[in-house]
Amino acid sequence: MGVVVVAAGSGTRLGADRPKAFVELAGATLLHHAVRGVLASGPDEVVVVVPEVRVAEAQSAIRSLVGSGPATTTVVPGGAERTDSVAAGLAALSPAVDVVLVHDAARCLTPVEVFERVLAALALGAKGAIPGLPVVDTIKVVDAGGMITDTPRRSSLRAVQTPQGFDREVLAAAHASGSTATDDAALVEALGHGVVVVEGDERALKITTPEDLARAERLLGSTRD
Ligand code: C5P
Repeated sequence: MGVVVVAAGSGTRLGADRPKAFVELAGATLLHHAVRGVLASGPDEVVVVVPEVRVAEAQSAIRSLVGSGPATTTVVPGGAERTDSVAAGLAALSPAVDVVLVHDAARCLTPVEVFERVLAALALGAKGAIPGLPVVDTIKVVDAGGMITDTPRRSSLRAVQTPQGFDREVLAAAHASGSTATDDAALVEALGHGVVVVEGDERALKITTPEDLARAERLLGSTRD
């Protein structure tokens, strides 16, 4: 099993002076937390995708984390969109890898149980499996003018997370289509493959704003409310 960790975003909404994955949370970068979580899932290979100017820095940070563990790790530069970064990571996996998980470094506190649920669904034969949580708000679909065009039934909605797992050939074909999307499942769905949603976890939140960072710190128990 191979994992592509995408960490090449700028993280503008966090308002930091560096790319989001290099911001610190409780004394370690988001990237450090994310890769540590990924390694706990027992991958054969990990490819980390970072901004081009951060490749050397990420290589040395990851070397210290991996130590003498069994996983092969590679760091490659990302692209303009998340989809480009995932494609760059996929291309760097060795041909032996037949199952791929794609994980956002921004979801750096994702517990190992989530990785395990995704892998278990793939082992049962799913071509794609992604974690998700029921939504608490009622979601509206609106047009460009803000007028509501649809109100999907809340019970049928899931807020999805990463890691998103796929049969490698299916994911590669989805990326070869040249489309872009905010998650990989959308590309695979567009090819007509079934993707199953397994139970996600609140701790797999995507750190996007300073408030999310504060919430992640509380989850880590490093600050008090
Ligand atoms: O921008 P967004 O919040 O969707 O980013 C989700 C993940 O994708 C983050 O971990 C971010 O670093 C990564 N990303 C990337 N390359 C980009 C844009 C986002 O690796 N060009």
